[in-house]
Amino acid sequence: MATLAKKLMTSLADTTLFVQEWLANPQGVGAVAPSSPKLAEAMAQWLPSDPDSFVLELGPGTGVVTEALFRRGLRQDRLVAIEQNSKMARLLREKFPHAQIITGDAWKLDDLLARRRVPVEKVGAVISSLPLLNFPPAEAERLADKIRGVLEPDGKWVQFTYRIHRVRPRGASSFRLRATEIVWFNLPPARVSVFQK
Ligand SMILES: C[S@@+](CC[C@H](N)C(=O)[O-])C[C@H]1O[C@@H](n2cnc3c(N)ncnc32)[C@H](O)[C@@H]1O
Repeated sequence: MATLAKKLMTSLADTTLFVQEWLANPQGVGAVAPSSPKLAEAMAQWLPSDPDSFVLELGPGTGVVTEALFRRGLRQDRLVAIEQNSKMARLLREKFPHAQIITGDAWKLDDLLARRRVPVEKVGAVISSLPLLNFPPAEAERLADKIRGVLEPDGKWVQFTYRIHRVRPRGASSFRLRATEIVWFNLPPARVSVFQK
């Protein structure tokens, strides 16, 4: 009972922070509330098969998808997450002290990974919740090139979008589509697409 109450309080606090940050910067945050557990699970099922591979999460927010990745078995020391919102990044560091949480711009992912104390050269998956629809197509392409550069040969880029009628989100035109599904149990419903080089 105490655990359930604690979970509810945490979820309420996370949602409050999310709404506050959305009000301050709607375009940048890209959603009014954290993703649903169903959407987080749909993203997290694409962990690399090699448990030593790194996973790069872009736009982790308050950590709903991050938590789902750990529930699926990802080790905290294999996660690097880039979040531009400093309050959210601080919250993530408190929640996941053994993960590498970077406060920064996902568009600089190559530099940010290279500048780690132990540089991260390749990752087995990029799990992205970035609101790509809020960026011009050329910017999304620029990000996609950086994702391509950091993925292992059979690595996967997992991206969700609220534009559910489009299988390919912005920037993904040169990737192979591996799988796609609509998650209806989310506000608003979202499409998760998985790409390979
Ligand atoms: C739609 S929210 C998703 C949050 C969380 N992953 C979830 O599913 O609940 C998008 C997140 O991307 C972050 N973000 C937006 N632009 C970014 C950028 N250029 N670099 C890093 N993070 C960014 C926002 O601050 C926000 O936390």
